Amino acid sequence: MIGTGYVGLVSGVCFSDLGNTVYCVDKDKKKINLLNSGKVPIYEPGLEEILKKNFKQKRLIFTTDLKSAVTSSDIIFICVGTPTKKKGNSADLKYVFQVANEIKKYIKKYKIVITKSTVPITTGDKIEKVLLNLKRKKLVDIVSNPEFLREGEAIRDFIYPDRVVIGTDSNKANKILKSLYLPIIKKTSRYFNTSRRGAELIKYASNAFLATKISYINELANLCEKTEVDIKDVSFGMGLDQRIGDRFLRAGPAYGGSCFPKDTRAIVDTANNFKTNLSIVKSVIKSNDQRKLLLTKRVEKLLKGKIKNKNITFLGVTFKPNTDDMREASSLYMIPQLHKKGAKIKYFDPSGLKKDFSSLKNVKFCKDISSACLKSDLIIIHTEWNEFKLINFKKVVKKNKFIIYDMRNIYTPSKITNSGIKYFGIGR
Ligand code: UGA
Repeated sequence: MIGTGYVGLVSGVCFSDLGNTVYCVDKDKKKINLLNSGKVPIYEPGLEEILKKNFKQKRLIFTTDLKSAVTSSDIIFICVGTPTKKKGNSADLKYVFQVANEIKKYIKKYKIVITKSTVPITTGDKIEKVLLNLKRKKLVDIVSNPEFLREGEAIRDFIYPDRVVIGTDSNKANKILKSLYLPIIKKTSRYFNTSRRGAELIKYASNAFLATKISYINELANLCEKTEVDIKDVSFGMGLDQRIGDRFLRAGPAYGGSCFPKDTRAIVDTANNFKTNLSIVKSVIKSNDQRKLLLTKRVEKLLKGKIKNKNITFLGVTFKPNTDDMREASSLYMIPQLHKKGAKIKYFDPSGLKKDFSSLKNVKFCKDISSACLKSDLIIIHTEWNEFKLINFKKVVKKNKFIIYDMRNIYTPSKITNSGIKYFGIGR
């Protein structure tokens, strides 16, 4: 596994747990030292235990030595980052090509080179050009095997995937990869072999579709708010139709994270390059951007426009629970906006303090739910961490009047309002 970021580390640890010997390579010495001391640089429930177990068994090796890792391996997964370029919306592939150029020197016998990072359609073709000499000598097959795991649920998603997608027209590579994935395919999932370009596109198409589902339900939630319909009932009723499915229909703040925002932008960019207009995905991006604004305006409305000196609490600031990841979290827009308007903000997130807010004078991290909620005028449930699901608000706020804005609809409105608390959710 080249790159010990989210995808590389989780996949590497899980592959070793299936009995393979896995070399996890990274240029970052600090990270490798940390991993070699049994610590995990990312927040992912369950990962540390599996890592330690396989590290002890010597099936998991962390190293900065790319040469020895490549020489010792039959299958090479490229798992480096593909962030959005500083200028424009396309995915920056410089790390992918750096890897391709480096491993080229060390391949002397047959190996499968796989892109597991999310890479735009035709990236495999370009890597093949870099490795053309090796390809001609039949020393490599270049395959696309996109990863579909979610942060916070990564181990389960890896072990019980819905599908494993392998993009290659090489029977040899396909046979080897089928045996690699056999232990998990047997359990629940489908193994799907398609073209390399097809596999590359499946990944982007899936993320863009899920983002579309979320934006769709978020816009419907806006309509529900005007018509006194509960969006949760609408999601449930829609989801009963198996053609629609009930997952990823939870209304909430703008979707965030390191994938949906980046991948929707990149697929639009790729389509533009092929002179194709993905107008639906374009409008999803726009809708999601507007959602940050819309929900911030709603907060102002709940406080009747009087934001200055109001005590606002954020419960959860990460883009989703069970991660410490702040990338493109909607709180990154909301908190500075409300702060600018004079609000005094306290926040608590189970994953700890966030440096993103350290320059904001009136934004303070609290060490627990109680201190974050004490004397608050408005409590915003921004991320649905489990520990926020059974709070006795009256007890922790210690104040007569306060408002709850439940952006994840985790509470039952009637129960909360019956206890005399002003409660607002999303689309209800
Ligand atoms: C996403 C995909 O779900 C994975 O399949 C994919 O492998 C991954 O991107 C990737 O490309 O690496 P992830 O970004 O970890 O996974 O998190 P999700 O669980 O998909 O959530 C993304 C955002 O959508 C979060 O902000 C979440 O709160 C939001 N969301 C999700 C909703 O607002 N409503 C929902 O019903 C579901």
